[in-house]
Amino acid sequence: MAEESENKVKPPSRQYPDPAKKLEQEVKTTGHTWDGIEEYDNPMPRWWVWIFIITIVWSFGYWIAYPAWPGIQSATSGLLGYSSRANVAAEIADFEDRNEVFFAQLVDTDLDEIREDDELHRFAINAGGSVFRAQCSQCHGAGGAGVQAAGYPNLLNDDWLWGGTMEDIHQTIRYGIRNEDFMDARWSEMPAFGRDGLLDDEEIDQVVNYVLSLSASDHDAELASAGQELYEINCASCHMDDGSGDYFIGAPALNNQIWLYGGSPEAIRHTIYYSRFGVMPGFAERLRDAEIRAVAAYVHQLGGGQ
Ligand code: HEC
Ligand code: HEC
Repeated sequence: MAEESENKVKPPSRQYPDPAKKLEQEVKTTGHTWDGIEEYDNPMPRWWVWIFIITIVWSFGYWIAYPAWPGIQSATSGLLGYSSRANVAAEIADFEDRNEVFFAQLVDTDLDEIREDDELHRFAINAGGSVFRAQCSQCHGAGGAGVQAAGYPNLLNDDWLWGGTMEDIHQTIRYGIRNEDFMDARWSEMPAFGRDGLLDDEEIDQVVNYVLSLSASDHDAELASAGQELYEINCASCHMDDGSGDYFIGAPALNNQIWLYGGSPEAIRHTIYYSRFGVMPGFAERLRDAEIRAVAAYVHQLGGGQ
């Protein structure tokens, strides 16, 4: 009996070795403890150590082969001569080489035949579109719709001042309009009928109403019929009897609702009194001929090319 009760208080586990104690004997610890947790001093796995060594060796190779050490101006250049900037420059040069082929073709192709070659035409419109955004949009608007208040014409319609064939548009862009820079700039000047005393106020009122009648705008019929003869004498030589305008001198058509400076009686009166003098720079020295041809093709297809 006594023997039995003695056995009961002995925990059975005591008969086995404590596994933690056993490990403790085999592996040393580093001596670090945190809250009673100790750190074993196990060796690194072999594969890990090798990879570590290889990366160090690799880094030496990399330092030598590639730009690595930063300097004041730039990094060391490396034996392979690699440079991301040079790579970009090479890609751009490659791109330009390919464009160059098209640019050469643009110059060699008759202006009216550009649009017959689909690939060339597509190139011209893309290249011309970027020229337009850079050189023309500040006056003609990003989309080419113009700014009436400033007399910058809308290029989206088929109402042209100086003509809408490829030849005409090319000429306009090359030498510009009423500028002093090019002998070949387009030129004409409407007289300032009021300021220079060619017509008195009453006559101007009459002719304003006659101009309004040409485009079927609201007008005073009596004044308009009094203005007809004045128009025929003073204006028809440039704007034509029927008001259809003249590309040769850039005289706008007056018989439609498209206005360069505005179709209100006040705007028309202002034009007749003071005249206007719309100036556009020429691009012959700012752009290569291929670019002028490209932007001409771009403008031509905007809506109103002839
Ligand atoms: C500084 C402003 C300005 C810039 C920049 C400019 N233009 Fe003009 N452009 C004008 C004005 C003003 C006229 C109208 C002049 C007139 O009254 O005849 C005009 C007229 C034109 C015409 C003639 C339209 C017609 O109905 O016959 C074309 C085409 C044209 N511009 C294309 C361009 C292209 C393409 C560019 C860029 C390469 C450009 N312009 C840059 C101001 C400008
Ligand atoms: C020597 C040719 C010439 C004569 C003559 C002339 N014009 Fe003009 N007219 C022009 C030109 C060129 C323009 C465009 C002006 C510019 O862009 O600077 C113009 C513009 C206009 C405009 C502005 C049109 C618009 O779309 O905004 C009106 C209106 C006009 N003329 C009416 C007349 C009337 C009326 C007379 C006669 C009393 C007259 N013109 C005589 C050449 C002429």
